[in-house]
Amino acid sequence: MPEPIDESTLLDHDADGIKELDNNLPRWWLWLFYITIIFSAGYLWWFYLSGFGSSSQLRFERAAYEAHLARRDRLLLASARADIFAEPSTDPDVLARGRGVYLANCAACHTETGAGQIGPNLTDNYFIHGPTYADTVRVIQYGVVEKGMIAWKNQLRPDDIQAVASYVYSLRGTNPPNPKAPEGVEHPL
Ligand code: HEC
Repeated sequence: MPEPIDESTLLDHDADGIKELDNNLPRWWLWLFYITIIFSAGYLWWFYLSGFGSSSQLRFERAAYEAHLARRDRLLLASARADIFAEPSTDPDVLARGRGVYLANCAACHTETGAGQIGPNLTDNYFIHGPTYADTVRVIQYGVVEKGMIAWKNQLRPDDIQAVASYVYSLRGTNPPNPKAPEGVEHPL
């Protein structure tokens, strides 16, 4: 049943017989309207005036900046990695760690002193795979699988490889007892 019409609210304009009533707005509608006004004031304050809220623009810029930092860190790490293999460390801590890695993984074939047994003598000036530190690092990383020297790059962390390579490098010229006969090509140390 339609609501009774309050004739006093009838406006005097008329469109093809359709008339308009000037009713009060419903209370629920008005409250919604006031709430949106209060909300917009809060929104303005939070995102634009107070500095607390971060707009999507700001969040986007921050994410871009973080991506930039992450990329920079990766590059720094990569160059640090490359650097640790540039030359043998002489840091006593690194060498001590390298000796630990050596005794645990390498002494079985190269003996505790590096004099050689299954693997070649690491203390003399004869080299099968080249005399430079880079050669030593490469042999340790990639091994000589067909000769029984395994690739260590997936067994040891890069810094352990650096440590053990530096340690092995430091064994050169140490003349331990019972050396294995020279193998490879002679190079001055
Ligand atoms: C299972 C035995 C074995 C183990 C374990 C082993 N090696 Fe070897 N290693 C060899 C053999 C065999 C060779 C010689 C490969 C060839 O004849 O080309 C060799 C070669 C090398 C060479 C090159 C020597 C040269 O004259 O060019 C280095 C350096 C070396 N090993 C270091 C290491 C280090 C460091 C470890 C431990 C992380 C290790 N090896 C563990 C057997 C071993």
